Amino acid sequence: MSTDSTSLKLKKEIEEAADFLPLLGTDYIELYVGNAKQSALYYQAAWGFQPLAFSGLETGNKQSASYVLVQDKIRLVLTSPLKEGGPINRHIDKHGDGVKVVALWVDDARKSYQETVKRGARSYMEPKSIEDENGEVVLSGIHTYGETVHVFVERKNYHGAFMPGFKPWNPAYQPEGTGLKYIDHMVGNVGWNEMGKWCEFYAHVMGFAQLVSFDDKDISTDYTALMSKVMSNGNGRIKFPINEPAEGKKKSQIEEYIEFYNGAGVQHVALATDNIIETVKKLQQRGVEFLKVPSTYYDTVLDRVGQIDEDLEPLKELGILIDRDDEGYLLQLFTKPVLDRPTMFFEIIQRKGAKSFGKGNFKALFEAIEREQKLRGTL
Ligand SMILES: [Fe+2]
Repeated sequence: MSTDSTSLKLKKEIEEAADFLPLLGTDYIELYVGNAKQSALYYQAAWGFQPLAFSGLETGNKQSASYVLVQDKIRLVLTSPLKEGGPINRHIDKHGDGVKVVALWVDDARKSYQETVKRGARSYMEPKSIEDENGEVVLSGIHTYGETVHVFVERKNYHGAFMPGFKPWNPAYQPEGTGLKYIDHMVGNVGWNEMGKWCEFYAHVMGFAQLVSFDDKDISTDYTALMSKVMSNGNGRIKFPINEPAEGKKKSQIEEYIEFYNGAGVQHVALATDNIIETVKKLQQRGVEFLKVPSTYYDTVLDRVGQIDEDLEPLKELGILIDRDDEGYLLQLFTKPVLDRPTMFFEIIQRKGAKSFGKGNFKALFEAIEREQKLRGTL
């Protein structure tokens, strides 16, 4: 058995933490992309997202087109500009396709704005109410790392498909889901020596606390060096691990990300499933590509993690990784970057009690990433 068992507890940095910014969950993630129409089809066909709402020329929006997709509690918005110039084009030029908005579902978007700006957040969008025949949504927003922003969404008085400005989108093609349920966590990559600053931001401006675990130690190896800390809101529904590069023998995946994204940004979004074997099988059949660890990983994994409910064979076949902490175990798997730039990827995770993030898999994983980096000539 491994001796590096992971223990986790929430360290309250400030006592009123949970009170001044109650977050009900992630409302949506918005990506700025070069071609939202085609990206939408990718997330439908490969990932099993369902069409929900649309905004664009047909709805009177002459500036941009947005497709809203949903799978259980996960909402994805894909946005492309319709004209030259402007902030969306500039964002895509600089970063490639990537996450612009991590929207947080709140009861009171005005108060969320006041409380965070008062504590030092940089304003992105002053509170505004938007209305249509289905009611009212109140939005406000603040900046976080890089050019990423948090939009606070108050939708308690809204009954439409998504929000005013959007119409229901109901295309003929509606492929089957893949069993993805909710966003488990979302990881940000920030620049050299910036992890502390952004953890501080989440603690003092957003009222988050640090999830203390052995994961937050320096996880540099011979292969890839990085530092990581996990910040969580009071009710644990929002978890943001923050990575920064660390000095290593080779160029780390974090540096590669920062180079191609031209700065800090969302590195990966972890999507939870209740049945990772079925979910990953479907995703692979539909063309989603995952990182593979060598099959020797499975020779010793049970010595490390102990007994699990699943048969090892299908896990091995699909390349699903296993890790354990004091509270249980987890199954996880990472995609290759889903864009041409080696920037954003997804994680699929099934928790069976464990509350940590798979530290025991880092070494095997980094070796797999290193092989991919070598192919890209960016190691
Ligand atoms: Fe993760």
